[in-house]
Amino acid sequence: MNMTKIGIRSIGIGVPEKILTNADLEKIVDTSDEWIVSRTGIRERRVLGPGETLRPLVSAAAKTALQRGGLAPENVDFIISSTVMSDRFCPAQSYEIARDIGADRAFAFDLNAACSGFIYGLAAAESFLQTRDISAGLVTTAEQMTTATDYTDRNACVLFGDGAAAVVVTKDDPNHRILCTELGGIPALCEEVVIGGVKTLLAGQMKDFWFRQSGRTIMKFAVRTIQDLYDRVPRKVGINPKDVRYVIPHQANQRITDAAAKAVGGKTEFISVVEKYGNTSSASVGLALHDSWDRFQKDDLVLLIAFGGGLSWAAALLQW
Ligand code: ACO
Repeated sequence: MNMTKIGIRSIGIGVPEKILTNADLEKIVDTSDEWIVSRTGIRERRVLGPGETLRPLVSAAAKTALQRGGLAPENVDFIISSTVMSDRFCPAQSYEIARDIGADRAFAFDLNAACSGFIYGLAAAESFLQTRDISAGLVTTAEQMTTATDYTDRNACVLFGDGAAAVVVTKDDPNHRILCTELGGIPALCEEVVIGGVKTLLAGQMKDFWFRQSGRTIMKFAVRTIQDLYDRVPRKVGINPKDVRYVIPHQANQRITDAAAKAVGGKTEFISVVEKYGNTSSASVGLALHDSWDRFQKDDLVLLIAFGGGLSWAAALLQW
């Protein structure tokens, strides 16, 4: 249990305006709305348009989170940005955000833990706040999976969307408290989700930039992982898993969420926004947390769970 009460004070998001529907995809590849909905639960996703970049979205999310949390930019001690693909390698996306929002004294860094990155960021923020003489920071998550999407490959192009979220994490804040976190993964399975071809991307050859995953293997890993973390993480702080009111899992596929909810049983509700955003990698838990924020009541236990490339997994238990 935390010695100091560390919590998520506020949240903001940024998503592209452009919406790509299943009907749009039917015109591009040999697929159907029926196949996509029944196999994934996805109906539409937000995607960056030509020439658009990720930075404005994530900076807008950060500004909203600061405004809602009543935190002035000069009081931001750190910015941790989870991203698999920022617009540039250097400067780090986190420093671009710091400049955009005027967080002039923040230390900042990016982290890549694939789809689990946002929760890795929360865990890092919690540790910094526990151990350093600082009081508030931002954890952001911003992903542009569609940059790595081959729109001739129906196996992958129906899955992904783009988006960003940001949360203010503060010390001595009893609201939305982080009770505990858990991080890990299976390095032996690191070839199961791969984004490659960065060198050819830099040479302007988008066609050689690719995403590859073992869909079935990950599906099984995901359901097992959600079940395992649901069982284990609340017990770390003496809480019966059955008392967890909501689980917000990584939004990869409605079938994964449904299978995990069924395996867990009981009254715990599993939150899903995959229908409207698709899979946005590490941004997905942030987007789902944002969209369900007003549903949570005082003392509700909310368990965030992510899984993805690495293979990695992560969980954070929040008390509202
Ligand atoms: N439209 C129509 N048919 C399609 C499409 C499509 N878009 N895509 C695949 N198919 C076909 C295949 O060709 C195959 O046909 P066949 O039987 O004639 O060979 C059939 O549908 C079944 O394909 P599968 O790949 O076996 O379908 P599956 O039910 O496994 O669903 C999916 C694929 C959606 C990728 C699923 O495996 C999945 O979601 N896995 C988990 C992925 C995940 O969670 N990744 C997380 C880490 S990565 C990240 O989040 C960034």
